[in-house]
Amino acid sequence: MPDHFRLLHQDTGCRARTGRITTPHGEIQTPIFMPVGTSASVKAMRPENLKDAGAQIILSNTYHLYLRPGHRLVEQMGGLHKFMAWDRPILTDSGGFQVYSLTELRKISEEGVKFRSHIDGSMHLLTPELSIKIQESLGADIIMCFDECPPAEADREYVERSLAMTTRWAQRCKDAHSRSDQLLFGIVQGGRFAELRQRSLQELQEIGFDGYALGGLSVGETKPVMHEVMDACSDLLPPDHPRYIMGIGTPEDLVEAVWRGYDMFDCVMPTRNARNGMLFTSQGRLNIKRKQYEDDQGPIDPTCDCYVCRTYSRSYLRHLFRSGEILSSMLNTHHNIAWYLNLMARMREAITQDRFEAFRKEFYHQQQSETE
Ligand code: GUN
Ligand code: ZN
Repeated sequence: MPDHFRLLHQDTGCRARTGRITTPHGEIQTPIFMPVGTSASVKAMRPENLKDAGAQIILSNTYHLYLRPGHRLVEQMGGLHKFMAWDRPILTDSGGFQVYSLTELRKISEEGVKFRSHIDGSMHLLTPELSIKIQESLGADIIMCFDECPPAEADREYVERSLAMTTRWAQRCKDAHSRSDQLLFGIVQGGRFAELRQRSLQELQEIGFDGYALGGLSVGETKPVMHEVMDACSDLLPPDHPRYIMGIGTPEDLVEAVWRGYDMFDCVMPTRNARNGMLFTSQGRLNIKRKQYEDDQGPIDPTCDCYVCRTYSRSYLRHLFRSGEILSSMLNTHHNIAWYLNLMARMREAITQDRFEAFRKEFYHQQQSETE
């Protein structure tokens, strides 16, 4: 049993489990959701707001911080935790996704990915070794291998070749990694092909990582395909290591993934949607723009005990949104993050009591979106 992860409880009725990850900046109770702080900031949230909303760990991005302000500057300023005044755990993604989703011009070769910056048009070569070096400079508690995330529609031949290279890159990442105080996670690729996913996972396990992530999901595939990939990997994943699904998801995605035995998640959905006025509630999604909330004195979600729900009415939040007030983004984001983290806490509690299956049924029963 590795000492950075402890499996605390396995639900007796399904694959859901609770656990604890130990890092230099504290412990993380799993299953957990990681708010996204791409450029060393969870948009519209101060670190104390994040703590107040219950955040245990946040995610940040190699790609963005490398381009601006530069990893050397962050290192010179004492590392990412000190730079952004967040003293709890941080996970950094490797750049092996943003480079595909954000850059127009890029060329992938065995060596790495050559790309044009989306900020100033400058050319760069990101390699597995450089990604690890950047992530060591930033100093996150958990860092990720540099990978290729093929598009959802890529054919089997492409995915097979890509995955073989991602495995070689994973070995190069492990060889380049020198900080023993950071956990390094491998990323399983293989697209929608269950057999390739299993091969990827097998090969990563032979190299050996501190945790295993599923990449290449939520890239436009259908829900049944996403669930199939989760299923194809869940029985092969080592139970004594953390399992992370990258870039998901909706509340429903999180419930489905936890039910299948996954522990960690990240997504821009709660933060990005908050800024667009879309709020999560126990009854489903709510759009604060709507006329019906004009004189609504109630909170966003009567079952939510976050600072925003304890303090403000839907009427006021609608007004802030319509007026384009900065406070609108701050309050909406606070609620959505608190709501997501509360959902995770409720899932952990249900698992501990061996009633996750019932929780899942109840969750679907309650979620009735006003817009769907
Ligand atoms: N974030 C969401 N999906 C992915 C992926 O496939 N790879 C990486 N590195 N990050 C991701
Ligand atoms: Zn709330």
